[in-house]
Amino acid sequence: MAQSIRREPHSPEADRRRDVERLGPWFHNLHLPDGSETAPDHPLGDFPRYKWNVLAPHLPARLDGWTVLDIGANAGYYTFEVARRGARVTAIDVDPHYLDQARWAARAYGLESSVEFRRMQVYELADSDEHFDLVLFLGVFYHLRYPLLGLDIVARRVKRLLAFQTLTTLAMEVQADTSDRPLDERAALREPGWPTMAFIEDRFAGDPTNWWVPNHAAVMAQLRSSGLGVRSHPGHEFYICEPLPPGVAGRAPYDITPELRAASGRSTA
Ligand SMILES: C[S@@+](CC[C@H](N)C(=O)[O-])C[C@H]1O[C@@H](n2cnc3c(N)ncnc32)[C@H](O)[C@@H]1O
Repeated sequence: MAQSIRREPHSPEADRRRDVERLGPWFHNLHLPDGSETAPDHPLGDFPRYKWNVLAPHLPARLDGWTVLDIGANAGYYTFEVARRGARVTAIDVDPHYLDQARWAARAYGLESSVEFRRMQVYELADSDEHFDLVLFLGVFYHLRYPLLGLDIVARRVKRLLAFQTLTTLAMEVQADTSDRPLDERAALREPGWPTMAFIEDRFAGDPTNWWVPNHAAVMAQLRSSGLGVRSHPGHEFYICEPLPPGVAGRAPYDITPELRAASGRSTA
């Protein structure tokens, strides 16, 4: 008896659909050249397009000649946006699943020659002497068990601009003066606007890789303490920073280099 064999249609669109399915699940909803999307039913909406729309006006409209480092690039939404502005992009992520998506999408967009993907931990940037005109450090800080180590390492790779984004507690107060206090004035540490980070022992929003949630005051203070000046605060949880010139107030009050070198596995000699 003749069996009916269901033939899959062969067309570039059908092949693309199959690839998108094979490479899923997707965290980034990429809008592909044929008009299809990788995560059209994303629970956060058209993610991260609506975040990019907040950030995009605060970055140079053209990035020709700029080098960009995208940390925790995921499927590369931001990588591709800055590549389209003319940048050469190095995109790193720890997760091979997301890197497979990003490499595939680079081919789909014809952007392979502008982007390089590396499987790497943010901490491994301590082993590099590379500097990047623009560093994107978006949606990664709160996933780090060692967030200040990560930030201190990243800050040293920035030549011109850092775009930073993190989950926060939503508390927006900032105390004007958090300078020295005597030992018996510890109540100050619990006042609104004091820089604080909530530690997550198990999971937050169902995600066991969420470790720390800072308030806005902590983000500002930690960026400054890592040697960065906050140039603007374009929107909710976004910060645009520049490296502070050496010696400018706002840096850590003493030289953190020996501790940073030891913590990142480099010789202190
Ligand atoms: C919440 S997603 C953010 C993705 C993208 N940057 C964005 O803002 O939409 C966090 C990404 O960071 C990556 N990641 C987590 N820890 C990392 C680490 N230690 N080093 C490098 N990438 C990391 C994850 O694999 C994931 O792709």
